[in-house]
Amino acid sequence: MEELKKIVASSIGIALSNEMDCNEILDKIEVPKDKINGDFAYPCFHLAKIMRNSPANIASELKEKITLANNIKRVEAVNGYLNFYMDNANLTSETLAKIMNEKEMYGSSDIGNGQNIVIDYSSPNIAKPFHLGHFRNTVLGSAMYRLYQELGYHMIGINYLGDWGRQFGLLIEGYNRYKEEYDIEKDPLNALSDIYVRINTLAKEDETVMDAAREQFKRLEQGDTELLKKWEYFREISLKEYNRIYEILGCHFDSYNGEAFYNDKMEEVIDILIKKNVLIDSQGAKVVEVGNNMPPCIVLKSNGSTIYATRDLAAILYRARTYDFTKAIYVTGSEQILHFRQVFEVAKNLVDEKYQKGLVHIPYGMIRLKTGKMSTREGNIVYINDLINDAIYKSKAIIVQKNAQIENVEKLAKQVGVGALVFNYLKSNKLKDIIFDLDETLRFDGETGPYVQYTYVRIRSLLEKANFDENNKEIKFEQLANEAEINLIKELAQFETIILKAANEYEPSILTRYIIDIATLFSRFYNECQVLNCEDENLKLARCALSYCTGIVIKKGLAILGIECPDRM
Ligand code: ARG
Repeated sequence: MEELKKIVASSIGIALSNEMDCNEILDKIEVPKDKINGDFAYPCFHLAKIMRNSPANIASELKEKITLANNIKRVEAVNGYLNFYMDNANLTSETLAKIMNEKEMYGSSDIGNGQNIVIDYSSPNIAKPFHLGHFRNTVLGSAMYRLYQELGYHMIGINYLGDWGRQFGLLIEGYNRYKEEYDIEKDPLNALSDIYVRINTLAKEDETVMDAAREQFKRLEQGDTELLKKWEYFREISLKEYNRIYEILGCHFDSYNGEAFYNDKMEEVIDILIKKNVLIDSQGAKVVEVGNNMPPCIVLKSNGSTIYATRDLAAILYRARTYDFTKAIYVTGSEQILHFRQVFEVAKNLVDEKYQKGLVHIPYGMIRLKTGKMSTREGNIVYINDLINDAIYKSKAIIVQKNAQIENVEKLAKQVGVGALVFNYLKSNKLKDIIFDLDETLRFDGETGPYVQYTYVRIRSLLEKANFDENNKEIKFEQLANEAEINLIKELAQFETIILKAANEYEPSILTRYIIDIATLFSRFYNECQVLNCEDENLKLARCALSYCTGIVIKKGLAILGIECPDRM
């Protein structure tokens, strides 16, 4: 498909007498949703100003200049668009032969050329439960990690743990007072967060408690061994809990350097900002003006202490030096948009332009529950473990109801339950708020994870029944000419473009929706065309090959999103 697109771009380039850069043309070419409008469309609106003519006239004039060759069968000018109709016979055999040949490698590319991309994601605050927001963060970051990996980038996943700050003074103080009342090892995150809430309330009433907490944090900052041990303990038991979730989600981190890691790296940042003369006094605090109608970025508070932003600045400097990144991506909730805009602006003073330009913040929307049932304590704090267990438990019931004899039901229920959650989170645009409804998420029909997994399973069983040989080189793909077949093939041909688009737009939902489209097109094809009962052996073989290729794309697409495909269900 990419090849065909390039052919179209170059034919437009020639028609424009090579006055326009071919890559620019390529960027503008669209794939019409409705195939009636052709396989590709080139909007002429941006040319109106340059060519001093209406888009409709420009399209008609260009149409006359396009040569019909090289797979271009027909061109039409419609409402300022130039629509291209391609020769499908070639597309069909090229696409399917490519998939059969490349198998699991289909869709991958090496555009990234091994360049480094840092992705800071998940990054929960230790000693606190993992809530729905962090779950969305983790799933989103993990999908971005794999999307870029598919494009040939070298990925560095960083879990920037929230493991530093004044609150640890309070936590230590609370722990000393209340630890006997809890079985901390049993449920560390809830115990610690409970302790924190209690001591925080107390400190608000009693100034001496706050003083004691301040003293604890000061000693911790100065490296008091006993306190450091406690802090390490909090970090360790928290990570152990988080790792359980990471393992279930199959996500990967190359570093767990959190905020604490930057404790001794902020001084250099302050020095640089002073030397550059950008650190100014503002009501006792030290700030950097960032313009663009934003409030200044506070780097040191009036009592001289560093803050979240100071550590993020140190992290930018460190990551540029350590990883020499092309991009450094940050995934967090949208409430941190201003924070990152400010920090990225200040970073201009710290790192080379090429690094500063590579800083990207990916914000995401909120998650709300449809039912308040799932133990909400404070707004959206939901026990993720409960949610995952619920999803697995319910999937198991559905699977067993469908087939009581099914083997490996535990593993299967996990694949389906967890897959359904992940799929649901990655289905909508990242900025959109999600109203979460577990039963809806687990449905076997509609736009759900189980539905696409089930499509894959159907394909596998079909191929088994047909005894399909995936290494057969004698398949006559040109037999596939009916509309349902062609539409599916055209969509399969888009895989590489979709991966690129989803990565470039930091929007895994583009891939999720694509997989839904593939599953839907497959169902249509399967309803309209006989496969197993097809009398013509050559056609049957070609249809099996098409099914096989669909299976490859679904399985790989889901794997990029972080979802496993069961063999049976
Ligand atoms: N710990 C923060 C939170 O839970 C997210 C950290 C994001 N990463 C960063 N480099 N600031 O909201």
